[in-house]
Amino acid sequence: MKALVLSGGKGTRLRPLTFTCAKQLIPVANKPILGYVLDQIAATPIKKVGLITAHETGHFVEEFVTDGSKWNLDICYIPQKPLGLAHAVKTARPFLGQDSFVMCLGDNVTGQGLERFIKKFRTEHLDALIILKEVNTPSSFGIAQLDDHGNIIRLVEKPKTDMGNLAIIGTYLFSNRVHDAIERIKPSWRGELEITDAIQEMINMGCVVKAEVLDSWWLDTGKKDDILSANAQILDAYVQADVRGQVVNSTVTGRVRVEEGAQIINSVVRGPCVIGRKVLVENSFIGPYTSIGDDSKICNSSLEYCVVQQNVTVHDVERLEESLIGKNTTVTRSSRGRVIKLNVGDYSELAV
Ligand code: DAU
Repeated sequence: MKALVLSGGKGTRLRPLTFTCAKQLIPVANKPILGYVLDQIAATPIKKVGLITAHETGHFVEEFVTDGSKWNLDICYIPQKPLGLAHAVKTARPFLGQDSFVMCLGDNVTGQGLERFIKKFRTEHLDALIILKEVNTPSSFGIAQLDDHGNIIRLVEKPKTDMGNLAIIGTYLFSNRVHDAIERIKPSWRGELEITDAIQEMINMGCVVKAEVLDSWWLDTGKKDDILSANAQILDAYVQADVRGQVVNSTVTGRVRVEEGAQIINSVVRGPCVIGRKVLVENSFIGPYTSIGDDSKICNSSLEYCVVQQNVTVHDVERLEESLIGKNTTVTRSSRGRVIKLNVGDYSELAV
């Protein structure tokens, strides 16, 4: 079995950050989302991974993943024009050959590993296994309708009419019969070859297609608020108290990871939080669910529920919350008083 990871696409919903970074590389708890996806693949016996990339951001992805040796995976880069998830599979056909494969979207994270799904796919000799999760906004996802026995009745991408609330999450397992189905489908109204249509076509072809409902959390990090939720979820799930940096005249409570070379001076930090390498936090408050990227400086400021990327300076900001700040950015404030909420791209300067 192989793995196919989709790390291409346009990332339009995460602009301005995606002008200078692939959306799959936006860090949550100071690690790119794609890193969590590769961790989950590395925990299975799969070794060969095809990594779909887009022309604009592929070099950022290659810089992070390199040859995959960090995960002990064998990576094959597959450049693709963003013409749909099924188009990505079609483009990867020479890499996939006749093998079955697990396909993961590079911007989706779940709290559950892949082993259970791989076991079910193998032991039940399936042609496709899709994983579902209840959502509040079904029209933003691919939706599956099941009968009372849990069999799939039909699948529709971003339905405009009520079809229930079971969304197809970004993990799919396929036999090589998916390729025949993809050959039969046409681009959708949004001009993409949809994987949802390909799976529906597999059902029409008489393939054995099953669904399983995920019993852990799942986050699709397509928008700013999703990144903040993913950050909170991952801090909650994985961060342990671990102080490696220096804490001077400060209070650090709860599950806070302070990386090497970081300094916390005259400040209060309340977990769950991650404070990156060589970060300086001085005369400041860092509240729960905040990640501060390496080499950043937070002085005379108060932050809560924020994702701050590398090399960011925040100075004299009375209250910054629910904000996503791109790398190499400076946020300063001349007069104090109001709460501010920001979505700031890389290399920005803000005086608020
Ligand atoms: O998040 C789950 C949803 O993902 C499913 O419920 C939908 O059925 C599925 O179509 C997909 O919908 P999105 O509209 O959210 O897909 P998005 O365009 O965000 O692409 C998902 C990932 O795949 C993202 O990491 C970018 C990558 N991608 C996307 C396209 C269209 C590619 O690598 N190549 C592509 O051509």
